[in-house]
Amino acid sequence: MKILFLYATLSGNSAMLSEQLSEKMAAAHPDHQFEVKDADNSKGENFADFDLVIFVTSTWDEGNMNLVCEEFLDQLSGVEGRRFALIGLGDTSYIHYCGAVEKVEAKLRELGATLIGTPHKVDGFIDDDRVNEAATWAEGILAS
Ligand SMILES: Cc1cc2nc3c(=O)[nH]c(=O)nc-3n(C[C@H](O)[C@H](O)[C@H](O)COP(=O)(O)O)c2cc1C
Repeated sequence: MKILFLYATLSGNSAMLSEQLSEKMAAAHPDHQFEVKDADNSKGENFADFDLVIFVTSTWDEGNMNLVCEEFLDQLSGVEGRRFALIGLGDTSYIHYCGAVEKVEAKLRELGATLIGTPHKVDGFIDDDRVNEAATWAEGILAS
């Protein structure tokens, strides 16, 4: 399988998680191919080359999508039937914890993408524990 970690970030955390997760998954699954892309440089693409896109993005501004994510999704098309899974970064110190997750999910469904599994939420700064938890979730996604 060819799997893409596609991140839309404002302060770099989604990028950091995507890179570390991709490395970890690639080491565990030499039979699959993993790539990482920045959504900001991928506008207008429909990711037809990939069997699965794991979209990694964050919540800002009182429970909303970050601006890079919003702009990217506004220009996304041609993803009918394409498989997406979702990782949402946020922080429980904010009232609307990971509020963007439902919004991104709704937008992807509206575009006709097929959502695989339950979105995974990541609280706070990226450390080894967060990467390991996300890898356990990603294993479940690959198995399903
Ligand atoms: C100004 C600001 C607003 C934020 N608003 C929220 C929020 O409403 N809900 C939430 O869960 N996290 C919120 N966060 C936390 C970010 O989602 C978190 O730091 C995330 O790791 C950032 O990821 P990124 O660097 O990929 O953009 C906010 C952070 C900042 C700095």
